[in-house]
Amino acid sequence: MDRDELLHWLRTEDRGALAELWARADSVRQAHVGPAVHLRGLIEISNRCTRRCAYCGINATNHHIARYDMPDTAILACVDRAIELGYGTVVLQAGESPLWSRDRVAALIASIKRRAELAVTLSLGEQDRETLRCWRDAGADRYLLRFETSDPELYARIHPREPGAPDRLEILGWIKDLGYEAGGGVMIGIPGQTWDTLANDLTTFERLDLDMIGIGPFIPHPDTPLGHDPTAWRAPVRDQVPSDEALVYRALALARLLCPHANIPSTTALATINHRAGRELGLQRGANVLMPNLTPTHYRAMYDIYPAKHGLTADTPYDSQHLRTRIHTIGRTIATGPGSRNHRSPPSPRRSH
Ligand code: 5AD
Repeated sequence: MDRDELLHWLRTEDRGALAELWARADSVRQAHVGPAVHLRGLIEISNRCTRRCAYCGINATNHHIARYDMPDTAILACVDRAIELGYGTVVLQAGESPLWSRDRVAALIASIKRRAELAVTLSLGEQDRETLRCWRDAGADRYLLRFETSDPELYARIHPREPGAPDRLEILGWIKDLGYEAGGGVMIGIPGQTWDTLANDLTTFERLDLDMIGIGPFIPHPDTPLGHDPTAWRAPVRDQVPSDEALVYRALALARLLCPHANIPSTTALATINHRAGRELGLQRGANVLMPNLTPTHYRAMYDIYPAKHGLTADTPYDSQHLRTRIHTIGRTIATGPGSRNHRSPPSPRRSH
């Protein structure tokens, strides 16, 4: 798909055209990754962070939240819940903090891997190559690091860099070299993000041949520079990408068309802006993964990346059954096993006579 075509699809509001886009994304999803929805249990192990990202509510300058670190015993209890619920993957997510040292995280990964045949995904921010290697050696399977935007200038504005720190795209290269499955992604509607940038974001997914792609709306957080006064950062009005739900679906559907084999979640941020149907609509427009939150509720409120995060109280055992019902209601199945990226297409289903 060329750039003009991408831009056309991104900008279209024509109902007939959109119906065609949803149908194409859904059939490419069905053909390449099948009907099964993979459940990844998310554990937000700490909200400490030394970085000052202008969009993120847990950035170091936000003094309105209490900081926490989950003890290993509490993390392993969440892992046991994931096993009980039949999930094939746990995702450990946190800000960047020296308290989560290379050795501490490596030991944690090793103890999770000893417990069960679970895939371990890390989402622990920017790390040096040796640390990434050590965690891979300890058994980690996947690494998520959204690059947030493909526009270097916008990125530099919203993401103050540490002196000498490598770029996220460079780190994603290491992640792939080290044999992790690599996940990237962007937010939609960042003040200053233009249509051209968004089209580049999508072609970047394809160029990087990502195994996992996370796309969600930008949700302003009042205790962040970007949430405070988003208008100060905006692109000229004609070019500014809106942070709206419909556009997230269009980007998600296009990501599926460009990267047919990728694992693509219907993200929590999407469920936050449309609590009633966001998850399902994402799954029907290209996504094949959900990430139920297993973090104990008393920590969740402090993991305040953006306001009113969906699932502050959801995803308890009761809701887990509810989630299964919702997946079945839209005609999908629930995957078992780790659900790694499959580079080949699954065999087409046999016809029943
Ligand atoms: N709105 C939406 N998504 C956000 N993230 C961080 N802050 C926000 C926000 N205000 C996303 C980023 C990050 C991921 C963990 O959460 O894309 O990579």
